[in-house]
Amino acid sequence: MLRQDLKYPSDFNSEVKKATAELYNRVEKFIPEVEWQFHAPLIYEINRLKKEKNIAILTHNYQTPEIFHCVSDIVGDSLKLAYEARDSKADTIVLCGVHFMAETAKILSPEKNVLIPDERAGCSLSESITADDIRLLKQKYPGVPVVTYVNTSAEVKAETDVCCTSGNAKHVVESLGTDKVIFLPDEYLAKNIAKQTKVEIIAWKGRCEVHERFTAEEILAYKNQHKNIVVLAHPECSPDVVAVSDFSGSTAGMNNYVKNNQPQKVIMVTECSMSDNVAIENPNVEFIRPCNLCPHMKRISLKKIFDAIRYNQYQVEVNKDIINKARISIDRMLEIGRST
Ligand code: 13P
Ligand code: SF4
Repeated sequence: MLRQDLKYPSDFNSEVKKATAELYNRVEKFIPEVEWQFHAPLIYEINRLKKEKNIAILTHNYQTPEIFHCVSDIVGDSLKLAYEARDSKADTIVLCGVHFMAETAKILSPEKNVLIPDERAGCSLSESITADDIRLLKQKYPGVPVVTYVNTSAEVKAETDVCCTSGNAKHVVESLGTDKVIFLPDEYLAKNIAKQTKVEIIAWKGRCEVHERFTAEEILAYKNQHKNIVVLAHPECSPDVVAVSDFSGSTAGMNNYVKNNQPQKVIMVTECSMSDNVAIENPNVEFIRPCNLCPHMKRISLKKIFDAIRYNQYQVEVNKDIINKARISIDRMLEIGRST
């Protein structure tokens, strides 16, 4: 039978309705009932199959609420997903995020079957630099350690001394004890870190296509319109945007800020779905939403997760030599831990 002949679960019967009722209570503010009847049968089947096959679904904070809240075993920022991929007891990991996250999971758990529901889910930062670029930089700056953001390919990580995420970048830079580091590939993250440390940062020209679209003018206009609003910005935003924000941190850092401070009104200057997911858990906080979507994150859907499980696709493979080299730089980061 051809794959496209196989149907997706679509029967919104009483069993499915009952089994998913609690999940719907969580997300009903963001998913209309008319839409839920299409999601629920898929959610029901995905949750049944993942138990049967000992599969863990690891999901990034930018996924939509029906994925984030209804089928995921672990949710979080890139750093948390890396720890969980390393420590998971599942036979298979389905990574609902972008390709570099799935590759990181494979490097940390090479014996596991790691799947990504859409292998085209890339990242503009990851695309901005190659392993050859790093080799040239190392020639240009001999002896200067290379810190690489996890939003990069396995080959780039293999040329790296230590990886970092937005949750520990400053911490990682300072842990090296040098007066200079090469910091790749996000130009804005590099500039934001440079403002917080005495370590000299040699940067690259990569940009996140989602966060570079936010401007300080836009954020200031929101602040004028909404008095006492709290602005949280991801450090992939420009330094100008971060300068007009009240807090800057990883997606987990922003989530924790809202949870711990319960501001009356907040703007999360980051990918669109993040606010929906955090709003569900913080019903007393009002979210103002400047909305930029990550087209790569949005390639993941319930249907593709279901296909990933039933067809065991798309398997993430990384060359063994690359795994061995890249693992060193990721392990060093995990030893250093989290700062925001
Ligand atoms: P976090 O590590 O903060 O989750 O960020 C990942 C990412 O891709 C942000 O655009
Ligand atoms: Fe990459 Fe930006 Fe999308 Fe994050 S939001 S995955 S950095 S393109």
